[in-house]
Amino acid sequence: MNSQHEGSGQINEFYRWIRDYLADLSRATDGELSHAINFGYWTPSCKNLFDAEMAFFDLVVGMLSPLTAGAHGVEIGCGIGGYAARLLESHPVSLSCYDLLEEHLLLTRKFAEEKSVVDRLNTIQGNSMEMNSFENDSLDFVYCIESSFHYDEKQKFFNEVCRVLKPGATFVYADISCEDSSKVTFKAGNHFSAKEEFNNFIQNAGLKIIEHRDIGAQVYPPLQKYTEYFNDELLDAPAGSDKAKVGKYWDLVLNNYTKLFLQGLMGYQVYKTQK
Ligand SMILES: C[S@@+](CC[C@H](N)C(=O)[O-])C[C@H]1O[C@@H](n2cnc3c(N)ncnc32)[C@H](O)[C@@H]1O
Repeated sequence: MNSQHEGSGQINEFYRWIRDYLADLSRATDGELSHAINFGYWTPSCKNLFDAEMAFFDLVVGMLSPLTAGAHGVEIGCGIGGYAARLLESHPVSLSCYDLLEEHLLLTRKFAEEKSVVDRLNTIQGNSMEMNSFENDSLDFVYCIESSFHYDEKQKFFNEVCRVLKPGATFVYADISCEDSSKVTFKAGNHFSAKEEFNNFIQNAGLKIIEHRDIGAQVYPPLQKYTEYFNDELLDAPAGSDKAKVGKYWDLVLNNYTKLFLQGLMGYQVYKTQK
């Protein structure tokens, strides 16, 4: 495995800095960690980010279904494996986890070991815009959750996804959308696209949109409210400590995103597409 993949330095540093805080933020009431790194889908019964990330997992799996026994798919930008291991736990499929960061793939493998599903998991380090490890028309399903805001050439990414899917196979895609990136406070390393751009990328790649939802209302306001509550009541970190600083930063990020959402300038797009 090539540990220092081209362009990964800044992204690696960012996740090293924020990962522990996000792990705490997504802890369930009984202490279980989600091992997901995303904003979640806040349905009315969600009490915390863990619940919202599990509700989001259910939404994604519902869109991927039916997943037939023996099917082989890829999670692109798998993070630390929360969704991958749970997918393998609930479905008799095999999965390749693809991510830019070696650290994330090691944590994914560790979580899959804990869940006793590592025999059906393969980890591959690489860049989503050049997925040379996969043959044309070779995959039964692909999904990519909240990773593409890191990609500076999204059309290349969608073209790659279309190339590697078998004809008729499903690709589920979810990410932040932004209609005016100049209003984003922390821009470094973020490559947000507008809703219409997503539609164009998908269609230009030769994928068909089967279902589309903008779940922004079930993402930004409830996540922002929960983060504020978490920082005030649950974050076990002295004022001025690194973790408290990360909490403050995350609060500022989510305040900015929620404000943009309320102005109609930010959304969260979820697509089921087919080749
Ligand atoms: C916000 S996390 C989401 C992780 C996971 N999808 C989840 O929902 O828990 C984004 C992930 O995308 C990965 N990533 C960023 N740029 C990438 C690229 N060009 N190719 C592959 N993965 C990338 C990051 O390393 C990180 O693990």
